[in-house]
Amino acid sequence: MTKHNCPQTALIHAPRQAPQYIETIQPPLFRASTIIFKTTTHLFDRHWTDAYDYSYGTHGTPTTFTLADNIAQIEGGDFCLLAPSGLSAINLVNSAFLSSGDEVWVADNIYGPNLEHLKNLQDRYDIRVRIYNPIDAESFQPTEKTKLIWLEAAGSVTLEFPDLKNLVKKAQQANVLTALDNTWGAGLAFNAFDFSDEHLSVDITVHALTKYPSGGGDILMGSVVTRDQLLHHKLYRMHATQGISVSGDDTAQIQRSLAHMSLRYEQQSKSAITVLDWLKQQPQFSQVLHPSNPDVAGHQFWAEICSTGKSAGLVSVIFKPEYDLAAIRKFCDSLTLFKLGFSWGGPVSLVMLYDLKQMRELKNTHLQQGLLVRFCIGLEHPEDLIQDIQNALKQLE
Ligand SMILES: Cc1ncc(COP(=O)(O)O)c(C=O)c1O
Repeated sequence: MTKHNCPQTALIHAPRQAPQYIETIQPPLFRASTIIFKTTTHLFDRHWTDAYDYSYGTHGTPTTFTLADNIAQIEGGDFCLLAPSGLSAINLVNSAFLSSGDEVWVADNIYGPNLEHLKNLQDRYDIRVRIYNPIDAESFQPTEKTKLIWLEAAGSVTLEFPDLKNLVKKAQQANVLTALDNTWGAGLAFNAFDFSDEHLSVDITVHALTKYPSGGGDILMGSVVTRDQLLHHKLYRMHATQGISVSGDDTAQIQRSLAHMSLRYEQQSKSAITVLDWLKQQPQFSQVLHPSNPDVAGHQFWAEICSTGKSAGLVSVIFKPEYDLAAIRKFCDSLTLFKLGFSWGGPVSLVMLYDLKQMRELKNTHLQQGLLVRFCIGLEHPEDLIQDIQNALKQLE
């Protein structure tokens, strides 16, 4: 232990360093803005694009690189960048690849704030936003100006699984970058980088780690994964120059939750199927939306690509038109286990109500008219959740 004359100095210059050989279940946590260079040689020789050449907190620490490597692995990719939220990861892709005059295609069921952000770019930077129907690959008509297509499998509110194969094939033929919002599959339902007999792959995945990887409903984070080093470097440069970075503490928390992520995903997936089977029997709904439901558009694409039968814990219902907004609000307010809130993937079940008319640009013939309620199944017992929904439905009689 090094001794300092003045206790104030001793408090600042830690007397003890952990030995290299110490091993713990969780990796040590690094919190850093400044990273100290041993010598000026290290300072002048550093290469910030090399993930293991540490230079400054925004460029990464062993803590952030550990989580990034794990997320890349879970999703079947090679490189990963972390962002402070899922939406910020989406915006990183948009800002790295879209330029004035480009066209971007977006699925009609895409995560709403992504579309909102792109429309903002459209107005300000002459980037044309075009909408396609995810279950009809014919509706995607790339032109010479098309740079990027956003995919989501399944859409997180209406839960259609897209015709991923034909959309990706068409994009590849037209030399269009494919970016998939992989939050629903979380790298567990299917491998976005190898999802067919022909080994089709998307170019980029974005994942709201806020959902299943965090698993606590308390931490925001996002990731961008690729297999292509050139794409990664383009993203990395944008990431570093925009100052996008995440907190070491949040990163360590998510790293800790990864150990049980697939167990939680499977349980929530199973519970969602139990709730789904019950919801299908109830007379109040005109449609019960879940990719495993054969009556739902896109079911065949889910069945082929998610051949293990896995799905996230989301189920939506469309109430029959006789239930107006006041009735749906009463229903949501009567639930006790399901809490009213955005997001999913945490321990507590959540509910949210949506008006499809305000959400969709295309006329979706496969969706019935009516108000939609989405259930995000948590880790409670599914029979208790069913009872909660049953009690709330009784309030509508
Ligand atoms: C499908 C999907 N993608 C992205 C996001 C954005 O994630 P975050 O809340 O971390 O910004 C969400 C959040 O609800 C989402 O549902």
